[in-house]
Amino acid sequence: MTINRVMVIGAGQMGAGIAQVFAQAGLEVKLNDMSKDSLEQGVSGIEQRLSRAVGKGKLREEARTDILNRLSSTTDLKEASDCDLVVEAVIENMDVKVNVFQQLDEITPPHAILATNTSSLPITEIAAATKRPSQVIGMHFMNPVPVMKLVEIIRAIQTSDQTYEAIEDMTVKLNKTPVEVEDFPGFVSNRILMPMINEAIYTVHEGVASVEDIDAVMKLGMNHPMGPLTLADFIGLDTCLSIMEVLHEGFGDSKYRPCPLLRKYVKAGWLGKKSGRGFYIYD
Ligand code: CAA
Repeated sequence: MTINRVMVIGAGQMGAGIAQVFAQAGLEVKLNDMSKDSLEQGVSGIEQRLSRAVGKGKLREEARTDILNRLSSTTDLKEASDCDLVVEAVIENMDVKVNVFQQLDEITPPHAILATNTSSLPITEIAAATKRPSQVIGMHFMNPVPVMKLVEIIRAIQTSDQTYEAIEDMTVKLNKTPVEVEDFPGFVSNRILMPMINEAIYTVHEGVASVEDIDAVMKLGMNHPMGPLTLADFIGLDTCLSIMEVLHEGFGDSKYRPCPLLRKYVKAGWLGKKSGRGFYIYD
């Protein structure tokens, strides 16, 4: 199947990054969000990133213009009516996602594939809420999307081979590396990453070492590009907590219990970089 026109739903950090990589790969992309402000912020972030690339000599000015010409923004979900692929990147809430997928099921052409960028919610449940479960799939990008090479492609139990292959080919076209994963809580990425971050938070909670020193151990000792607490702030502590809760509930195993300090920070509104305070304080 040929994918020419794409809609990305949600103009936050992930959605805007996803829209950027599709436009860079030569596709027509519509970025959708309910909020005009979020759309403006998302598009302005893309413009700034592309300008930086031009400034560094990594992108020609004409290429920047072409990429931006392929990108449009809309608050109207009905504009998905001529799209071959929709990638949803709204908040990590099953009711919200199911609502978006049920609307898309009515709006999009029958051949369209509906993908979700969920970081841990069951794709099988989202697929079951539509009348085209074989055309629903997980397409999990990593943050920052324009930089990170991986896309985890998650097959719901209902996903057809044809849908999988179309998304695998698309991922290669985006200059990313696809990895095929079955639909289990946290998939592969967050099943491994989040317990490590949660353990780093327990290490702070128990006073084993300071925030800076815990990050230094993992950066200098394990060659991680960011320490786990910096990374948690970067991802968002609310997102980290919700993923730990999905793992805890999905496996029913106490080894995935979220650290009480993580819960406390989220209750305080200390959500990391985006709120100005998490394990570190940001300007
Ligand atoms: N958006 C876009 N581009 C960015 C960026 C951002 N937020 N931050 C950095 N970059 C780009 C820079 O422009 C630079 O590009 P060029 O090489 O073309 O000049 C490049 O990334 C390197 O940037 P820096 O030299 O400024 O900084 P760095 O070397 O420290 O790299 C980093 C930054 C790539 C973010 C690196 O620190 C890193 O890899 N961190 C770990 C990221 C990670 O683990 N991501 C996965 C999170 S988990 C997830 O996403 C899944 C989930 O479900 C929660």
